[in-house]
Amino acid sequence: MKHLFICLACLVLMACTQPRDYTVSSPDGAMTLSFELREGQPTYSLAYEGKDVLLPSPMGFVLLADGDTLRDLRWTLESTTFASADTTWETVWGEERFIRDRHHEMKVALASEKLRMDIVFRLFDDGFAFRYEFPEQALNDLTVLDEQTGYNFASEPQVWSIPWGTEYYEGIYTKAPLHEKDTMCSPITMEMADGMYAFLHEANVTDYPCQNLAVVSDQLSTYLTPWMKDGKVLEDKAYVTAPFVSPWRFMILTRTLPEMMASRIMLNLNEPCKIEDTSWIKPMKFLGIWWSMHLKEWTWSKSARHGATTENMRRYLKFASENGFGGVLAEGWNTGWEGYEGINNDRFSFVTPYDDYDVDALSAYASELGVAIICHHETSGRADEYEADLDTAYQFMQAHGMPAVKTGYVSPLIRTSDGYQFNRSQGVVRHYRKVIETAAKYHISIDNHEPAMPSGLQRTYPNLMTQEGIRGQEWNAWAQDGGSPCSHVCTLPFTRMMAGPADYTPGVFAFENPIIPGTRVHSTLANQLALFVVLYSPLQMACDKIENYEKHPAEFQFIRDVPCDWAQSMLIDGKIGEYVVMARQDRHSEDWYIGAVTNEEAREITIPLDFLGEGEWTATIYADAPDADWQTNPYATTIERRKVSAGEELKIHLATGGGCAIRIGRN
Ligand code: NOJ
Ligand code: CA
Repeated sequence: MKHLFICLACLVLMACTQPRDYTVSSPDGAMTLSFELREGQPTYSLAYEGKDVLLPSPMGFVLLADGDTLRDLRWTLESTTFASADTTWETVWGEERFIRDRHHEMKVALASEKLRMDIVFRLFDDGFAFRYEFPEQALNDLTVLDEQTGYNFASEPQVWSIPWGTEYYEGIYTKAPLHEKDTMCSPITMEMADGMYAFLHEANVTDYPCQNLAVVSDQLSTYLTPWMKDGKVLEDKAYVTAPFVSPWRFMILTRTLPEMMASRIMLNLNEPCKIEDTSWIKPMKFLGIWWSMHLKEWTWSKSARHGATTENMRRYLKFASENGFGGVLAEGWNTGWEGYEGINNDRFSFVTPYDDYDVDALSAYASELGVAIICHHETSGRADEYEADLDTAYQFMQAHGMPAVKTGYVSPLIRTSDGYQFNRSQGVVRHYRKVIETAAKYHISIDNHEPAMPSGLQRTYPNLMTQEGIRGQEWNAWAQDGGSPCSHVCTLPFTRMMAGPADYTPGVFAFENPIIPGTRVHSTLANQLALFVVLYSPLQMACDKIENYEKHPAEFQFIRDVPCDWAQSMLIDGKIGEYVVMARQDRHSEDWYIGAVTNEEAREITIPLDFLGEGEWTATIYADAPDADWQTNPYATTIERRKVSAGEELKIHLATGGGCAIRIGRN
């Protein structure tokens, strides 16, 4: 009603006074966005409860059309239309089963001497978004030279980010005031001067480059990933043909971190599922022939220490089936790995196993056990080769009953049919989409390593189950900086994980690597268990070797129990970079799971159990022992079972680099 009123008010204003600014509010009325043409240039500003958050901020593009550079076009407003929605949709898998999409929308239609362009704004209670739309028109073929979207903060935020050059997004997020930042990868997380939290990213990146965020004269603006040609970085960012819609630019803006973490704006801005029958898409925990290669005990290529042998794989499949895992990944099963540790110029075959890996016998064994083999396709960044092989590769997987593939693109640049490109450029975004769509045809799910940064596409293609684009556990096996600091896993949930599931690979049970001295997992055992709850992935790998799990059967029980598909999720407590307490409810039972991790600082946490349903529950608590310490005594864990009920509080001690994992069930 109120919205209708705004709409009518605008129409009246338009008719009478030709005003220069237009406004739309969030459904709860707290957030207001105003659009204004300033000397013909589109701008927007944002206020929260009447206080400025963004001062007039730039919008629009520098374009190349028909040989002319179109810069500073002078726009006039043709019309403004308003709409609103309040719907709820069901996820195929996720952190939450049902997601509500409640927003108000304002669309401004603009015209200039050369072009027409619409801007669509959406306001949610927990943030706002907008995108550009180019309707079909005379000048249809456009080259985007620059996107001018900017964010002119009323007061300077503190920003957590990784630099834009971070290879594969595998970096450690650091905090600094905005003016100290340079060009950053999207997403970024911010704490505003008044204590509000913001998360800035993009949604539904389709046939467009991924955005990066640059600080220019202390202001934040969009820097699109450029195209390259013959080794040179071009001015060209995107080639588009109208009708065209850009990805959404969105900002979550909330008073508290639990509200920020609960925001589902990104998924709501992606299109509904395009896969009709999704019954074949299955979340699962998996094991793998993997960690030993990162420890350098085994090799991907065929050698006396070859990891993916028939014998090893049989052992992993059997252990998986005995312990309730859905799948086993085998890396190094296929020919082409000979040069991998150096520069790999060998062509990988995606249909030829090494002769010590009996793919037919293993497929038969896996199907007998009811465990899936997760295939692996490392491409060394040769996307052009992979595209040529996609159909045969997926037919081979289908014929061998393999429902999921981990893809990989280890190479600073990706080779495409348009030459070498940055991995988040338009050309490579196109490649990843082709992989997802082709895989869907063959009922194959994807775990994409070295990806473009996720942007919620899993709503549309739920076979895109998880991605890397994170400094994952593997760094702790070999990183010459000695491994990720304890604070890393306390920062990720608020930063990278907000962009979507990540294949971090939790669950190491032995923290030193004798083969590469100086490296170390900075964690206690209870912390590793907690990561299964803290870091969400619907394909969740327990990454350690069987031998290490067998040494700690009591603690391993938590990994056996914990699901990876949730009915609901919530941040109970946390501070970015310091500690995290997450609770999630299993999608297929009443059970709750809690994961808590801390940075280098030991701390006492209190977990109110007010989310539990009525009656008595049993909590199994895997906690750091009183004398646990990630450096000196990381394996000391206590396991306690006790009756609990709603209204109670659990008081838990977290050791330095420690954690706590809790299962709460009816028994
Ligand atoms: C990098 C991936 O992130 C890692 O998980 C994989 O084992 C290697 N590439 C080999 O493909
Ligand atoms: Ca990687």
